[in-house]
Amino acid sequence: VVDTSEPHVPVRGLIFDLDGVLTDTAELHYRAWKRLADAQGVAFDRSRNEALRGVSRAESLRRILDGIDVDDERFTAMLATKNADYVRSLDQLTPDDVLPGAREILAEARARGLRTAVGSSSRNAALVLERIGLLDALDAVVDGTADVPAKPAPDLFLLAAERIGLAADGCVVVEDATSGIDAAIAAGMRTVGIGPAERVGHADLVTTGLDTLELDAVLALPVRRR
Ligand code: BG6
Ligand code: MG
Repeated sequence: VVDTSEPHVPVRGLIFDLDGVLTDTAELHYRAWKRLADAQGVAFDRSRNEALRGVSRAESLRRILDGIDVDDERFTAMLATKNADYVRSLDQLTPDDVLPGAREILAEARARGLRTAVGSSSRNAALVLERIGLLDALDAVVDGTADVPAKPAPDLFLLAAERIGLAADGCVVVEDATSGIDAAIAAGMRTVGIGPAERVGHADLVTTGLDTLELDAVLALPVRRR
């Protein structure tokens, strides 16, 4: 009998998305966009916000405006207004805002010899991580200030893997956004989806939050066939 199964490629590192995975800043992003949309008289609600999860700041505004024509100057001003409002709302963030299970899985991963990183589209990632006190739990942070194409392009995650000295097939990405799972798959990484199947059902493993994620199950994920 010939064994045609692939040898198990060990998982050596975990790359976490930030907003909506390690902390609930997805809600603060939503509220800042909602205030901007209301002030501009543009219809926007939580269901439309779903299309913004994991999406860059400028692309988010394009999706909110949904074809409404604004000149470049006004577009840029709107981005600045939303970001200033969002950054102000980060003042209220504390280490208590780390989502359940996040600190634990980061510590367990380290204790078991895995590398840990963040791969986030946000240009505010370092500020958020500092406020919630997670910087020390991470070996690398790659965020929207890196000059690479946004998710669903694989670049942010490939850069994160490089920063922690790992090949893509040694990494597992933990994401709450459709575009994030797409980016990880494009990078050739194994994936854990946090949230409903409609959003992250294409991940290798889907769960409701980091508090229900078993590290052993993550380590046992077979490498993705491309
Ligand atoms: C992602 C969020 O992590 O970062 C998006 O899911 C957000 O909602 C994007 O638009 C960009 O964030 P920022 O902080 O640079 O505007
Ligand atoms: Mg996210």
